[in-house]
Amino acid sequence: MFKVRMPKAYRHPSLDYRLRTSRTIREAENLHEAKKAAVPTPLVYFVDMDNATLVMEYVQGPRVKEILDKLNHQDRVKLCEGIGMHIGQLHRASLIHGDLTTSNMIRLEEDKVVLIDFGLSFHSHNEEDMGVDLHLMKRVLDSTHHFHSQEAMMAILSGYEKIVGNQSSLRVLKKVREIECRGRYSGERL
Ligand SMILES: Nc1ncnc2c1ncn2[C@@H]1O[C@H](COP(=O)(O)OP(=O)(O)O)[C@@H](O)[C@H]1O
Ligand SMILES: [Mg+2]
Repeated sequence: MFKVRMPKAYRHPSLDYRLRTSRTIREAENLHEAKKAAVPTPLVYFVDMDNATLVMEYVQGPRVKEILDKLNHQDRVKLCEGIGMHIGQLHRASLIHGDLTTSNMIRLEEDKVVLIDFGLSFHSHNEEDMGVDLHLMKRVLDSTHHFHSQEAMMAILSGYEKIVGNQSSLRVLKKVREIECRGRYSGERL
């Protein structure tokens, strides 16, 4: 699998080059960091700096986006718990994914799932950043998987809590609610 960051014409060429290469390197590093935190991610084979290209393992399987609504209740809950556990493993290692959508998750079999797209990931101990990560997940479920969003989010949070513990989970959840309220007051509609 080749992930190529193409040049953007509206950016100054030298800035464009620096952005594309630095993001490519950062993504490779973060895929590795996630793996250290026991989260399955594609193997990185090669980082082609000059062409801002990441060569990585092709993960065979449907994206969670395509299958979440088609699963039966039990399988959906299992899958979502697994997703929540992986988010917990990332956060426990102070790694924020940055783009937790169901397009960035590939299902292998049963409840096994591989996380991809670490281009926006970063290190942080801040619970606000963890809250933002989970808040995006919630928004994606509400908008893309509306019929099962509550059930899915509950299962994700249950998996998350298993990894980070009750206290941390409650603190991050409080942040999620604060972020939601802020969104509501600033007129965000979803
Ligand atoms: N390692 C991989 N194995 C299989 N499919 C992948 C892999 N990496 C990316 N993809 C597919 O390509 C799409 C875009 O890749 P992604 O890393 O999410 O880039 P973007 O930043 O453009 O969203 C993903 O949604 C997924 O369908
Ligand atoms: Mg993506």
